[in-house]
Amino acid sequence: MNDALLALTPTLELPSVAREQALKKQTNISDYDFLLGWLYPEDELLPPNLALFSKTTGPVFIDFLGGKKNHRRQFGGGKGQPLARAVGIASDFTPKVIDATAGMGGDAFVFATLGCEVLMIERSPIVAALLQDALNRAHLELQLEAEGKTYRFDDDEHSFLTATISRMQLVNADAADYLNHTKPEADAIYLDPMYPEKKKKAATNKEMTALQGLVGPDIDSSKLLEAAMTVAKKRVAVKRPAKAEPIQLESGKKPSASIQSPNTRYDLYVVASTQS
Ligand SMILES: C[S@@+](CC[C@H](N)C(=O)[O-])C[C@H]1O[C@@H](n2cnc3c(N)ncnc32)[C@H](O)[C@@H]1O
Repeated sequence: MNDALLALTPTLELPSVAREQALKKQTNISDYDFLLGWLYPEDELLPPNLALFSKTTGPVFIDFLGGKKNHRRQFGGGKGQPLARAVGIASDFTPKVIDATAGMGGDAFVFATLGCEVLMIERSPIVAALLQDALNRAHLELQLEAEGKTYRFDDDEHSFLTATISRMQLVNADAADYLNHTKPEADAIYLDPMYPEKKKKAATNKEMTALQGLVGPDIDSSKLLEAAMTVAKKRVAVKRPAKAEPIQLESGKKPSASIQSPNTRYDLYVVASTQS
């Protein structure tokens, strides 16, 4: 699979250290904080996962078709869940969404399962590589299934997942720059910047632990929020810890509304409430 990694890396501009180590298939990471490499599944038909190995967590990779993401799809609460309401998903409206802080793609996948076209923007080339690999793998695995070479999903699930994955696109860029220069079309823009690490409460899972170590806190969220408000046709939704202050903007603009859930608050900046 080295060819696949070579094909992937130039487009995503992976740092050469990580790429060289991955090409050597070196999994001893004692000299590195992080190492990007391939994780081979037991089933030889299935493609390997591009995974992030670190000293502090097990290998981290993204799997849209299985595990936790699929569980969240089945039991997450559908269109009524706070995350869905935050971007304006309703029984009679399916917004076109930009997830401008895509991370491990969990929230973007929820939007796509609920019918939204989703453009994911992620600025870390390593996180973007994990996302691109997950999309590539999902397409390939669904294709193998369609060809009758694997039997993992029933017909309904297969068509649901195929439609979901086909609604997801990825761009590796700084979202503020990308939004300002490209002005992509979107009803809603979703932001989930990395909060500064809290002293007492560590990250909730190994994905977030790895992300915290890899990308650190996002200290330029106000710039991203300003850019998002000039591009979104209807609203910008910002995920915040339940008790955190809203993002401070130079203009002094405050959220128009908020949706509260137990640990999280979604601040809404309605940019054109009369536009349909
Ligand atoms: C907390 S994580 C997002 C988690 C995501 N919602 C999920 O479900 O996995 C924040 C991510 O946003 C990315 N990010 C922050 N600011 C960004 C920006 N201006 N442009 C693109 N990506 C950004 C970070 O690199 C990080 O991967």
